[in-house]
Amino acid sequence: MDYKSLKPFPEGFLWGGSSSAYQCEGAYLEEGRTLSVSDTAKVPEGTTNFNDGVDHYHRFKEDIALMAEMGFTEFRFSIAWPRIIPQGAGEVNQVAVQHYHDVIDECHKYGIEPVVTLYHFDLPQVLQDKYGGWASRQCIDDFVEYCRVCYKEYGPKVKYFLTINEQNMMALFQGAMYGSEKGQWQANHHMLVAQAKAMILCHEMCDAKVGPAPNITAIYPASSSPEDNLAAMDWDQLRNRLFLDTAVFGTYPEALLNWWKDKGIAPDITDQDWEDLKNGNPDFIAFNYYGAGTVKYVSEEEGKKMKSDTANFMTGLMTYPGMSTAVQNLLQERTSYGMGVDPIGLRVTLRQLWERYHLPLIITENGCGVPDKLEEDGTIHDDYRIDYLRRHIKACQEAITDGVQLFGYSPWSAFDLISTHQGITKRYGFIYINRDEFDLKDMKRIRKDSFYWYQKVCKSNGQEL
Ligand code: BG6
Repeated sequence: MDYKSLKPFPEGFLWGGSSSAYQCEGAYLEEGRTLSVSDTAKVPEGTTNFNDGVDHYHRFKEDIALMAEMGFTEFRFSIAWPRIIPQGAGEVNQVAVQHYHDVIDECHKYGIEPVVTLYHFDLPQVLQDKYGGWASRQCIDDFVEYCRVCYKEYGPKVKYFLTINEQNMMALFQGAMYGSEKGQWQANHHMLVAQAKAMILCHEMCDAKVGPAPNITAIYPASSSPEDNLAAMDWDQLRNRLFLDTAVFGTYPEALLNWWKDKGIAPDITDQDWEDLKNGNPDFIAFNYYGAGTVKYVSEEEGKKMKSDTANFMTGLMTYPGMSTAVQNLLQERTSYGMGVDPIGLRVTLRQLWERYHLPLIITENGCGVPDKLEEDGTIHDDYRIDYLRRHIKACQEAITDGVQLFGYSPWSAFDLISTHQGITKRYGFIYINRDEFDLKDMKRIRKDSFYWYQKVCKSNGQEL
């Protein structure tokens, strides 16, 4: 529905931006850090690896000063597990511990609230080699012990911890590494239990609030057929609710679990696991949003054919025989990298999350990743990014007017960093970093046009869009 006037953003609303350690820090083997599974993953030809990032590890003070100049009241970053505990378990690296104290203190110096992700795609490689990472229950304990160190050190000065970034994307798209569908959902279950225990521990050890950070999106049926509507419900269970019903209610979506049981691929869940899932309660939900999804029904037979078509690998990956397959929504705008641009979908997602879970919400990623052009006079005219963000922020305001309790907007990314698959060419930041794929140049920080625009947004609490 349309409103005659929109409610203002609430006082104290957090305006900021996001990052993750392995995509921006660089210094990948410095001061005791070991490799993570993201460092060892193969990068597409022609794109940089993550080794140098954008040198945020050494330049965090300069970066935070720029964020303060923009008017940030929040900065989301992640702590690197392979820095804090280089062997994954056991000895703690005090140099790394001090580093994140320095980052947090620097934020506080400017009144910026650190929102700290405990785990963003960077499982220590040693744990992957030792016992297969999340395939093993041992990973639950090692993750919880790593969290214990973070809570002890940073708990007294951090108000918001995020447990795991985009567990759903890891589970859905990297499942093949676990050898079978059962293995895939078992590893995912271990992560869910680890998250629940991390939330329990946070509440025992500190006053901080804690929440999950999945990638959540509204799901549209490809047509108005009953089959496609059911497919949209089913995909919503697998893509979204599997990660939030478990976190908030301690239950798996029932139909999904029954479907897995019918196929013989349901994870083994112990009584203690159910207990932990029930007792681990988030204080809020953080979520990343990049555009709604659209699906249609696909039969078992047709779906199997689609999965075996190696020429269309991505479609295969998004196909679940007997349930659904993702389709391109021709009514949705797209960026040059094919990512959806759907501000109304953000309002729908916010509404669904609020109505289902009734927990405060914070958007921890949303953004426009495209190449930017550095002009000869040193300016960057990224009006496309301004347009993208403006429309999404307006959707947030509409959702707030609908009654949704949203307390922060932290788009991806505060400054340019290395994309998960498209190197540094795919840029998201308000601050341009002067480096190319293979030429590190001077890594100078340069304010884009969006920097000045977002400065007005932050400083006017969203009034000047
Ligand atoms: C999210 C991740 O999936 O999307 C980030 O949490 C990632 O790590 C971001 O960078 C944007 O995706 P990409 O592939 O464009 O870097």
